[in-house]
Amino acid sequence: MATANLGSLDDFPVGSMRLAKVGDHRIGVARTDTGVHAFDNACPHQGYGLVTGSLVGDLVTCQWHNWKFCVTDGTCVVGEENVASHEVSIDGGEVVVTVRDRSDEERREQLWPSLRRGLANNYVGQMARDAARLLRAGASPAEIVWEGVAHSAPRVDYGVGHEMANAADCLALAELFEGDERTLPVTQAMAGLAEEAFGFEPRTAPAGAPAPSFAGFVAAVEEERHDDAVALFVTAIENGAEPGELRHWLIDAVSRHHLDYGHGAIFVQKSCELLDRVGWSHAAELLPHMVTTIVYGTREDTLPYMRPSMRALATADLDAMAAASPATRDDGSLRSALLAAHDLPAAELAGAVIGGLGVEGLLDVVSLAASERLLRYDYTAELDPSTTFGWLDISHVLTYSNAARWAWRLDPGPHTARLALFAAWLAVDSGRQERRHDVVAVTPVVSGRPGDLVRAILDRRPDDAAAFAADGDATDVGAALARAALTDQSGSFIVAAHAVKMAVAAAAEARCTDSPLPLIATARFLAAPRQERFVASAAQEAIDFVRTGQPSRR
Ligand code: FES
Repeated sequence: MATANLGSLDDFPVGSMRLAKVGDHRIGVARTDTGVHAFDNACPHQGYGLVTGSLVGDLVTCQWHNWKFCVTDGTCVVGEENVASHEVSIDGGEVVVTVRDRSDEERREQLWPSLRRGLANNYVGQMARDAARLLRAGASPAEIVWEGVAHSAPRVDYGVGHEMANAADCLALAELFEGDERTLPVTQAMAGLAEEAFGFEPRTAPAGAPAPSFAGFVAAVEEERHDDAVALFVTAIENGAEPGELRHWLIDAVSRHHLDYGHGAIFVQKSCELLDRVGWSHAAELLPHMVTTIVYGTREDTLPYMRPSMRALATADLDAMAAASPATRDDGSLRSALLAAHDLPAAELAGAVIGGLGVEGLLDVVSLAASERLLRYDYTAELDPSTTFGWLDISHVLTYSNAARWAWRLDPGPHTARLALFAAWLAVDSGRQERRHDVVAVTPVVSGRPGDLVRAILDRRPDDAAAFAADGDATDVGAALARAALTDQSGSFIVAAHAVKMAVAAAAEARCTDSPLPLIATARFLAAPRQERFVASAAQEAIDFVRTGQPSRR
């Protein structure tokens, strides 16, 4: 605590404001009709001095960006965070200001409401500053990110999505950072959560359900009875279902379909990984919204273009696939077959799994096929508004494969063997652009240019980035990809989220496949030019649709 006698009250005319030193603190002191008031001189926005601004009534205006604060209690009335106010007493006609030291706990108590306001208003700057302050006050990245998830999960339309997955990935990546630097992954998480929830009111929870049963839950999901499915799941949580059981319900539900282009499985993986970090006691605040996502997801496997592949998949012996013990690795021939296929070669893949490759071996093949496809993708086509195909159609295979692997490891069985086959189908489908055009295989070439991997990515030098990744130690490359993805200046949240998601999946898949290919492909992807805003392509698609009445070509 620091106290200073600032002299006679007569030296503070009404309507005046001046700087004072109280201990080590620089304090603004203003006298108004309501009394003498003291507050931090440093503006909570960027630290400029408030006493150089103006005082009108009880309102002080920071002249730098026009934020306004009520001097009586520090409330910000135009702008974002409040400014700290301090105790003033008049003792024998003298002005005495006391600045109390606040414990970390007291500072956190003050900062949480401010962070929540930042989330509600989608103010990235406020979230970043409050996250940095909270970290300094001893809050953990998990606690901060959870505030964002708890705010966003009930609000985001049609259930949780990329904002939650991105938050899970950013929280995992926060472990690569220390001290104040953790603000970067934490803020990337919060920004996506706030943006996607902005403008939505929280969903109301459905009324209670009969005794929960797995069969009842699955039936409700399949029949798209949203309220029943959510209520059954909530009741299961309330009845004390273990994390493994909840996870199984969700994995089983998403593995019945190629759900929402694979997002169903990816989001289940990320929501469970998030709970692994923040604690499964939070399950009731997150997972019912995951059920909403599953219920409303597109069953892509029912669409006409998937029918031949789904007929082939129906012949696969999923039980035998799930029971197979891994004994061999693909010598590259199955990967080549997958890359060349037009429809899912389900019999060949199932036969390989049962013959000793195992389900994880199949997922290795899928991940490496996706990496190879990414490495030969002609990224100059990325900015062509006349095509709807892009990087993300391929990169998604890698993240889906990683989700299927996660599901298989935690919940092995015929259902997750099927999920692996869905991932293989996506690897086949990601070749549709190649099949329409001549493909030029790209081999990363070391350019000899100085610099590091992060620099090459941020400078948009794809071939350098791929070459650096090929040369580096896998752990270092994985960390560099994560840093580059988090520093990415992408124009839209969805592109930044995919960069993060892919960096995380690539590191995991490189470890599992024991191959640098996923890292090299991701380095090239992160450095390549990408479509960042989708307004022009959406407008073009709308023009074509309204003009012809026909859907666009996949
Ligand atoms: S520094 Fe005060 S409003 Fe920006």
